[in-house]
This record gives sequence, structure tokens and C-alpha cells, in this order.
Amino acid sequence: MAQAPAHRNPTTDKAKAYAEVRAEIAAVLDGEPNLIARMVTVVALLAATFDNYFWTGFYLVDPDRPDELVVGPYQGTLGCLRIAFGRGVCGAAAQSGHTQIVADVHAFPGHIACDSRSNSEIVVPVFDGDGALMGVLDVDSTAYGAFDADDAAGLEAILAQVFAGR
Ligand code: SME
Repeated sequence: MAQAPAHRNPTTDKAKAYAEVRAEIAAVLDGEPNLIARMVTVVALLAATFDNYFWTGFYLVDPDRPDELVVGPYQGTLGCLRIAFGRGVCGAAAQSGHTQIVADVHAFPGHIACDSRSNSEIVVPVFDGDGALMGVLDVDSTAYGAFDADDAAGLEAILAQVFAGR
């Protein structure tokens, strides 16, 4: 009998990987209310799951300067400390409240280059249980066009589960 060709459906594989890491994050964080612990766990498990994540981390709304994001827990090379609302990809996500997918960061007006090896990124806004903006999750890749709607759906579901209790 002829063997079926090795078949890999990248879309399904990625959605499955996000569902698995989402379940893992939920299991680890069960009963843990501390926000830093929750953020660190999200970053650690995402960065360990996806090979194409070069920089993975949070920028948080600064309570002392509410129109500015300040760096939070991350894994990767040294990140910029502060980003004004409206600046770069993170600032655009914070200001609009919508996920930003950028296939080529060098073509994005006002992009902030913390590490010149980053070539594409996805930034997802993070909301608390009352719907207030807490900050954003920023993921950068050295590949161009690394992120698509599957990454957006996967990350949005994880962030809603962890920070909005949904
Ligand atoms: N690329 C981001 C800046 C943050 S770093 O990449 C870690 C941006 O333009 O928003």
C-alpha cells in the first residue's frame, strides 16, 4: 500500500500549538493572582513554544504617565524602556486598542527599532476584566511576515483568558 505523503498544514498546526500553550498557561496560573507572575509565565511559555519568537514581552500603561507605555516582563535582547501612545507598532496598538500585524517593520512609519534584527512583529492590546487597557504584548521575529491571523487569534485568546478572566 502506498504511504500517504507527509502532510503538514501550517495553519492547523499553529492554531493547535496556540490552543496547547493556552491550556498549559491556564494550568500553571491556576490560583495565582499576582500580575507579574502571570505575565512572566505567558512570556516564558510563548517564547519556549514558538521558534520564530525573537523578542516576546509586555509594555504596560504607566500609572504615573497614562499616555506612555513602560517595559514589562520580556524575553529577548534589551528592549526600549518607554514608548509613547501612538508611536511605533506598540503605540499604535495601545492607541487604537486593536492588534497590529506588521510584515515588514522597516516599512512601518515611526517604527521603533530596539534591535535591528527584528523584521516583523505582532502587537496585541491587553485588557483587564473591566475592559481597561493594561498594556500590550509585543512579539518580534527576525523573519519577514512571520505573523498572521492565526497568531492574532491565538494570542488574543490567551490574553483574554489570563488578564480578563474570559
Ligand atoms: N518594535 C516595537 C518597539 C519595541 S521593541 O521591538 C522591543 C515598536 O515599534 O512598537
